[in-house]
Amino acid sequence: MKLGVNLDHIAVLREARRVNDPNLLMACFEANLAGANQITLHLREDRRHSDDEDIKNAIIHSNLPINLECSTSEDIINLALNLKPFRATIVPEKRQELTTEGGLNLKNKNLKNCIKKLQDKEIEVSLFIDPSKENIDLALELGANWVELHTGEYANISLMLNSNLSHTKYKIKELDKSRKELKDMLNGELIRLSEVASYANRFNLLVAAGHGLNYQNVSEIVKIKDIIELNIGQSIVARSVFVGLKNAIKEMRELIK
Ligand code: PXP
Repeated sequence: MKLGVNLDHIAVLREARRVNDPNLLMACFEANLAGANQITLHLREDRRHSDDEDIKNAIIHSNLPINLECSTSEDIINLALNLKPFRATIVPEKRQELTTEGGLNLKNKNLKNCIKKLQDKEIEVSLFIDPSKENIDLALELGANWVELHTGEYANISLMLNSNLSHTKYKIKELDKSRKELKDMLNGELIRLSEVASYANRFNLLVAAGHGLNYQNVSEIVKIKDIIELNIGQSIVARSVFVGLKNAIKEMRELIK
């Protein structure tokens, strides 16, 4: 199982003071030394964390392949075409959201064109999708190389069940349910992710997963053999505050080995 480390939150910290610290490129080097397989960065339309210069520097200087998360906006796709990351993961983007809240609408008419343009430049393309067989069929029709299954629902249920979140102001109201209901829902999500990954695998579509994965909930995902890569950001950067980035990545690597 490969580990892509999403380093956007290093840039979030930098942008909190608008200085050049912490240095994103240094974080890429540390990730490499810690055994990460890939760096994932999201170039948001509002550039709220990583910016064009960050992406360019990471692509030129990082020893690891760069997986660039991007929307289908013309400017962002043109930038990706110029910068030529190893992979482009197309994600939906809303200005107001804190993070990427759901998977792509694969019926977006612009998508096929974006995928073709990227692949013509030898950039492999992944689509960030909600886990369903219907979405796999659509991703196949669109000619994607990868899908990344959105694990946000699984992660939210896991947080409400296995952490103190339900006692805090961050409690997820739709998931304010009994422990029995949450356990059943968590199991249901794992089955759904596993069945969808296996379905994709039958058609040789490569399967990654990510969003909300952390040191508590990742082990169950690792058991799904058809998922071959995880992209993890927030929990690793949060842990790095206490143990340093390299150790935080190594600990995650150990868990997903
Ligand atoms: N994969 C994709 C496509 C994402 O958009 C994100 C969040 O930016 C992640 C993985 C990482 O999610 P998290 O920061 O919750 O680990």
